[in-house]
Amino acid sequence: MTQLTLPRLGFIGAGRVSRCLAPAFARAGYPVTAIASRTLDSARTVASQLENCQAYADPQQVVDTVDLVFLTPPDDQIVPSVNALQFGPSESSPNTTRAWAIVHCSGASPVSLLDSARAQGAATGGFHPLYLFGGSVEDIERIAGCSVTLEAQGTLKKTLIALTAALGCHPLFIPPGKRMLYHAAAHYASSFALCGLAEGTRLWQTLGFSQADALRALLPMLAGTLETARDRGLAQALAGPVSRGDTGIMQAQLDLLEQCGGDHAALYGLLSRRAVDLARERPTPPVALDEIAQMVETSLERSLLQARDISPIKASRQ
Ligand SMILES: NC(=O)c1ccc[n+]([C@@H]2O[C@H](COP(=O)([O-])OP(=O)(O)OC[C@H]3O[C@@H](n4cnc5c(N)ncnc54)[C@H](OP(=O)(O)O)[C@@H]3O)[C@@H](O)[C@H]2O)c1
Repeated sequence: MTQLTLPRLGFIGAGRVSRCLAPAFARAGYPVTAIASRTLDSARTVASQLENCQAYADPQQVVDTVDLVFLTPPDDQIVPSVNALQFGPSESSPNTTRAWAIVHCSGASPVSLLDSARAQGAATGGFHPLYLFGGSVEDIERIAGCSVTLEAQGTLKKTLIALTAALGCHPLFIPPGKRMLYHAAAHYASSFALCGLAEGTRLWQTLGFSQADALRALLPMLAGTLETARDRGLAQALAGPVSRGDTGIMQAQLDLLEQCGGDHAALYGLLSRRAVDLARERPTPPVALDEIAQMVETSLERSLLQARDISPIKASRQ
């Protein structure tokens, strides 16, 4: 492959990530020519949405027919999958060229999981889109503007940067060996934001709201908060009693959540600690911030112990 020739792309694993990346690369003009999965049906579903893309029962046929392989099974299937693949010249047909590179899309797993391919001469790398894939066609539009964390060297690095740009995304690089912390931290912008909403809706359900009603009210609030954070930064977007130094409200809410049982007060207290940190970053922090910080710590001394004893599920079902 030269830099002027777009690489033929293939996927092994026809799940949520490849249902977005395969058509998104194809729309950007890259030839996505082969896909395999655990089941042929899943591979056919993705291939049928692309022009000139072949679904294969055997993942090796993807390696045998493309330049760059995206390995996209669940993380615990990366090693068994790559270990079963042959790179380099084929013994039966030595003139056949196999894929020269393979990447996985995991944020947490090291690129060294692909070492068996590397040992056979393939370039290996990581291509982790910072996006929560739901598996629907909307993902193909929504992924533009996201970041993709890349790990690769030489030609593969250049190729992955070009592929990232083709998606309308930004390349991101992290120091080697730091993927686990990077990935853990990214949960706060994806699944843990959902967990925050889940906690809010669960507490509202005790007031008689359905989850759907609660979400209808809370989702626009979250969307507005994100817009403000983007425009003004985290500290300036902070709202609520910590941001105002409202000691009376804060004490009442900590007390009430302790009465709810489970780990409701512990979760509220730990997040309030972070809110205090953010409020301190404001040009003029609220006067009562130290008092609120002390309240939070006093509540946490009790609520962290309480959280060990009763699960929140039990507490809310009581
Ligand atoms: N979902 C996200 O938001 C997200 C975001 C960034 C990165 N990632 C990473 O992307 C990778 C794929 O995640 P995903 O969410 O797309 O997973 P997924 O939706 O669970 O899909 C995984 C697919 O892999 C197939 N598969 C399972 N075992 C296989 C094997 N041994 N060989 C070949 N195919 C196999 C499954 O097969 P069948 O359908 O054929 O049964 C399924 O279609 C993971 O490394 C994940 O960490 C995910």
